[in-house]
Amino acid sequence: STGTGKYADRFGGQLVLVTGAASGIGRATAFAFAEAGARVVAVDRDAAGAARTAEMARLIGAPQAWGACVDVSDEQAMEKLAAQVAAEYGVVDVLVNNAGIGLSGSFLDTTSEDWKKVLDVNLWGVIHGCRIFGRQMAERGQGGHIVNTASAAAYLPSKTLPAYSTSKAAVLMLSECLRAELASKSIGVSAICPGIVNTNITATARFAGVDEAEEKRRQERSSRLYGLRNFPPEKVAEAIVEAVVHNRAVVPVTPEAKGARWIS
Ligand code: NAI
Repeated sequence: STGTGKYADRFGGQLVLVTGAASGIGRATAFAFAEAGARVVAVDRDAAGAARTAEMARLIGAPQAWGACVDVSDEQAMEKLAAQVAAEYGVVDVLVNNAGIGLSGSFLDTTSEDWKKVLDVNLWGVIHGCRIFGRQMAERGQGGHIVNTASAAAYLPSKTLPAYSTSKAAVLMLSECLRAELASKSIGVSAICPGIVNTNITATARFAGVDEAEEKRRQERSSRLYGLRNFPPEKVAEAIVEAVVHNRAVVPVTPEAKGARWIS
């Protein structure tokens, strides 16, 4: 491989699968592992974006990289993906369950449909990934690592993110339970908890019963107030790679995620 960064070749010969890899933290994570010499599978429901990430990952240093168009909330599609990847490229060594969607709105304004949408992706997507790829890793018997992108929202309550925060709290707990279960099989499990990161997620977030423009202004204000603007996804990607290298359990990233205070 041609990796040149801090972890050049650290992941040489390993297969890393990242979901939500067409954008933001997922794309940066695919690049970070590519730089560290891994073969990369970039998964996203955005087919063109996933393909583009794979193409760029090869330029960065991945000996091989593939894009795959899959909706992580679709269990059958995830089963199919895992079977195909195993048959064509081998068992995944590192899985990063990162795909997620935002949802802003007070609890009283949030509908069951809103809850279902956010839980389907943010929680069920992670459950499917952990179970399907976790079983493959366990059966192979050579260890592995699973990283789940939770959020500081998992443990810092806010008035405007009840459904999102609940989905992330569930991901955090699932990660810790799974870490305990899989330790004996040398499969590490990490939960990454970023605060506010500069990505498209707020651009694609759903807004339940709140004025979208006003909510965006509020988020702008609070992130400016706490000096949290422009935290780059690349730094979260770095934390993800380090979590695998050092087998970390729960990793807060960004100042407010480390417990300073929440934003609303
Ligand atoms: P992003 O919107 O830039 O990227 C998310 C990616 O996930 C997109 O490419 C999207 O197409 C993909 N995706 C969404 N639903 C999908 C599905 N059902 N199946 C497959 N792919 C799907 O957002 P960002 O910020 O990079 O988010 C990545 C993760 O980080 C998410 O889990 C998010 O909740 C989490 N996070 C983000 C924070 C932030 O401030 N940006 C803070 C804390 C956590």
